[in-house]
Amino acid sequence: MFSLLLLLSILLSNYNVYGKLINDFNQLEINSCDLFKGNWVYDDDYPLYNSSICPFIEKQFDCLKNGRVDKDYLKYRWQPKECNLPRFDATEFQKKLKGKQMMFVGDSISLNQWQSLTCMLHAADPQAKYISKRIGGTSIFTFPKYNTSYLMYRNAFLVDIKTENNGARVLELDSLSSAAQWKEMDVLIFDSWHWWLHTGRKQPWDFVQDVNSTYKDAPRLTLYEKALNTWAKRVDSEVDTTKTKIFFQGISPDHDNKFKQVSRCNATIEEYNRSS
Ligand SMILES: *[C@@H]1O[C@H](CO)[C@@H](O)[C@H](O)[C@H]1NC(C)=O
Ligand SMILES: *[C@@H]1O[C@H](CO)[C@@H](O)[C@H](O)[C@H]1NC(C)=O
Ligand SMILES: *[C@@H]1O[C@H](CO)[C@@H](O)[C@H](O)[C@H]1NC(C)=O
Ligand SMILES: *[C@@H]1O[C@H](CO)[C@@H](O)[C@H](O)[C@H]1NC(C)=O
Repeated sequence: MFSLLLLLSILLSNYNVYGKLINDFNQLEINSCDLFKGNWVYDDDYPLYNSSICPFIEKQFDCLKNGRVDKDYLKYRWQPKECNLPRFDATEFQKKLKGKQMMFVGDSISLNQWQSLTCMLHAADPQAKYISKRIGGTSIFTFPKYNTSYLMYRNAFLVDIKTENNGARVLELDSLSSAAQWKEMDVLIFDSWHWWLHTGRKQPWDFVQDVNSTYKDAPRLTLYEKALNTWAKRVDSEVDTTKTKIFFQGISPDHDNKFKQVSRCNATIEEYNRSS
């Protein structure tokens, strides 16, 4: 799962966020294998954890408990076209990260990946003690046996939203106050997009602030680009990239209810296919 994260941020050196990224993204290869060319294949050895017995999974991510009836979706893994990914080995993973801290920052996709990873690690060594705590907005999951920490900071926009005295919520495109905690991390994994599309009741801000100007709204891709520029600059100023590995998971997919007639947790792939 770890190796599926898209490596983009390191390519952001001139702050020309989109455009440049897409070019480089297609050429990104590791050991001359393009990890992003491939498809999802059925694998009988999956899943790597059972959500029913992961004691700390949040309800929203426990599809089994939420009544989903089909199970096939649990059995897929990514298969690059030109090479094989090593099998996930939790012990090896923990040993490699000994004494290190890995932090996810982003929206529910990041939260989901953080939860999956900690469930996978717990499932592989259920006797190993774990400590789960929350400090401010940061959730910290630690395995003392391996001295590894997996952190999650939920921030759907990456940049700040501040509430003014009059109650107005301001999306501050040039401010990213949580960046200070990145310094300590050995691995940083970011994602953002989905929330930029929300309007109306689901939009959690009233105004946009961009350096010296405040306005009501603008094309969302423009706002997103400005925020990613702020983010990229902060990565450069806060993070020692010779020590810390940085991943940007691309954009989180949209997930509104396109399939109204089957918008329930227990719908099956077949029902979705029939309805689309
Ligand atoms: C997950 O665990 C539950 C409870 O122990 C069990 O009933 C179920 O069969 C397990 N599912 C899988 C896919 O292993
Ligand atoms: C455990 O890891 C932390 C960094 O996360 C490090 O500061 C500390 O020295 C390590 N402790 C031991 C006992 O290795
Ligand atoms: C913002 O305002 C400050 C203080 O007036 C000024 O120094 C700065 O150049 C302005 N920045 C931009 C991007 O307009
Ligand atoms: C799926 O859930 C709905 C309620 O959301 C329920 O009415 C229906 O009976 C369930 N179907 C199955 C096959 O469990």
